[in-house]
Amino acid sequence: PDLPPILAIETSCDDTAAAVWADGRLASSVVAGQRVHEGFGGVVPEHASRAHERLIVPTIEAALAEAGLGMADLGAVAVTVGPGLAGSLLVGLSAAKGIALGRGLPLLGVNHLEGHVYSVMIEEPRPSLPFLCLTVSGGHTLLTLVREGFAHEELGRTRDDAAGEAFDKVAKLLGLPYPGGPHIDRLAAEGDAAFLDLPSPRLGPKGRRGDALFDLSFSGIKTAVRYWIADLPEADRVGIVERHRADVAASFQRVVVESLVEGVRQAVEETGVRAVAVVGGVSANSGLRRAVTEAGAADGFDVFVPDLQHSVDNAAMIAVTAAYKWAAGETSDLSVGATPSLAL
Ligand code: KG4
Ligand code: ZN
Repeated sequence: PDLPPILAIETSCDDTAAAVWADGRLASSVVAGQRVHEGFGGVVPEHASRAHERLIVPTIEAALAEAGLGMADLGAVAVTVGPGLAGSLLVGLSAAKGIALGRGLPLLGVNHLEGHVYSVMIEEPRPSLPFLCLTVSGGHTLLTLVREGFAHEELGRTRDDAAGEAFDKVAKLLGLPYPGGPHIDRLAAEGDAAFLDLPSPRLGPKGRRGDALFDLSFSGIKTAVRYWIADLPEADRVGIVERHRADVAASFQRVVVESLVEGVRQAVEETGVRAVAVVGGVSANSGLRRAVTEAGAADGFDVFVPDLQHSVDNAAMIAVTAAYKWAAGETSDLSVGATPSLAL
């Protein structure tokens, strides 16, 4: 639609991001990764909010410059309101409110998860609604049916860890840096996927137990890797783990990818919806992209994945979601707050 430029801000976790949506397309997208968490094996919330505070203004300025626009050209400001870390969300919210208030612009609050879902709308080819959406990120793993009017019908989810969390925890067990997903992905390509026999995360109707169409549990697989390591002869434990890193990575990635893709195939079969989006940080995984594309070709459904840089957290997905919301007349009150546990 023909809307004035939207500036979008995303600070829900450990990436400070800003993007501009103008003339019906992405005009710029900047992600300032925070390097402050590397030595900690995970995100330290207090460090994240302080880093956002330091990076937010330069990131917004960079996004505007890249779009060739100034503050005066903006028509609206969009911002992630949740889910995420409270202190991190508040930095983005405060910046967005300051701009909206100062320039008299409408504010568009966006759900981070809805942003991931709409990340397949940033570029062509875009799915038409309704479509099935597999959201696999560091904090969430769920399958939804996306309908007109920003309706998301949940078909199932993980009961414990998110897929990305499982990647990160197994990577940590293997002594890899945080976030471990990309490292597992890279190592899996050169490992033997039959090395470890790991339990399938599937609990659904055709899985071991559970009743939802897409019911998953990732905690058992992480525990199985931990037991494998614990059972190794102590004298050479570190050496064996190091020699078999790629094999464990490949074995782990295989069962995770299989469980996700099998769940998707079954959902396609049961709903008859033949468009599938795969979004969120884990959708950057090369094994998952390949497997879901092959399943689509075999079963006859269309697969939509965001560009790699839009799989992981970014503000472009917040900008495009805001464009759809604004076009539908949905704006937020300036009193809107952060909702750390906001659901889709
Ligand atoms: O969507 P995202 O950037 O942040 C959240 O909203 O959680 O997802 C981050 C997650 C991390 O767990 C990270 O390890 C995982 O996405 N990830 C990957 C890959 N790239 C990022 N997991 C597997 N393979 C990848 N290539
Ligand atoms: Zn995310």
